[in-house]
Amino acid sequence: MDEKKKTIFSGIQPSGDLTLGSYLGAIKNWVALSDEYNCFYCIVDEHAITVRQVPADLRRRTLAQLAQYVACGLDPEKNVLFIQSHVAAHAQLGWVLDCYTMFGELSRMTQFKDKSAKNADNINAGLFTYPALMAADILLYQADLVPVGSDQKQHVEICRDIAMRFNNIYGDVFTIPEPFIPSTGARIMSLTSPENKMSKSDKDPGGCIYIMQQPDEIMRSFKRAVTDCDTERCVRFDPAEKPGVSNLMQIYSCATGRTMDEIEAEFEGKGYGVFKPAVGEAVIEMLRPVREEAERIMKDKAYLESIYRAGAEKAEAVAMRTMRKVYKKIGFVAR
Ligand code: TYM
Repeated sequence: MDEKKKTIFSGIQPSGDLTLGSYLGAIKNWVALSDEYNCFYCIVDEHAITVRQVPADLRRRTLAQLAQYVACGLDPEKNVLFIQSHVAAHAQLGWVLDCYTMFGELSRMTQFKDKSAKNADNINAGLFTYPALMAADILLYQADLVPVGSDQKQHVEICRDIAMRFNNIYGDVFTIPEPFIPSTGARIMSLTSPENKMSKSDKDPGGCIYIMQQPDEIMRSFKRAVTDCDTERCVRFDPAEKPGVSNLMQIYSCATGRTMDEIEAEFEGKGYGVFKPAVGEAVIEMLRPVREEAERIMKDKAYLESIYRAGAEKAEAVAMRTMRKVYKKIGFVAR
């Protein structure tokens, strides 16, 4: 670790295959920031079990996600890539922070409200205290920056509140982190219902694009993407009036680096029948090298194992430093 550099922590749940939303909202920035910062990028399997998982699928997706992190451009030599459950300090600090997080604060979390509506038969305590575990993830590494999509902003804010509350009692134990949210791509919407976020748990398969999807399936989903029932039928950025088209424009902008003005000019006088396949093509080309590289890495189980083992060791060393400090501050007897 370079002591002069600031620190990043972020994570993704292996509760579904990685989506275009996670790629554009989070991973693309992880890669962009990885030279400038000491980076910890985690596969947060402990968070994933707040919703029931099929064990074999969870195991497969965890390893696939690691392969995809590397394929997206995260060099395991330069970034600490690891699996949350391999570092016991996450659960340990999670419990401590549960005791410094208020019931009322947790009740206001929109992700809890959404997920408990979707999983009405399993509103477990872990789903409720989830933000305290997420705060533990971030605070263990004394992270300065947390690159996430906009849906996670509220969780980073509660993490800051918990850290400040703790520091107010015990002195400067935790670094107060800042969220880092991209200006374009922070909230990619479903292709079939653009009023909803693109989500790996989406029941409508056409609404979500996955990093590992085959080009013909990606193209089919983009061709079927919902555009808006307006009469002008032109490519214009207006999220309130034209949510479907504006979402596609955001995706196209992320994939090509073009601004909204440039995109409007490019498709002036051309209908959605030209625009939608162009977005599909740009996404296919953006994801193609990632998919091909991930497929290759996924076959190399020994390589994957060497990455997550080394990652856990490096992460644990840093996490335990914070953990010892926390236990001492709160009055636990050292063993
Ligand atoms: P998760 O697993 O739902 O999503 C992973 C990351 O992808 C972003 N994201 C999106 N961005 C734009 N548009 C979308 N449609 C979209 N869908 C997902 C999310 O904002 C997130 O950055 N609680 C976290 C996981 C977590 C975590 C952490 C994150 C656990 N501990 C510590 C940061 C730091 C979550 O459920 O993300």
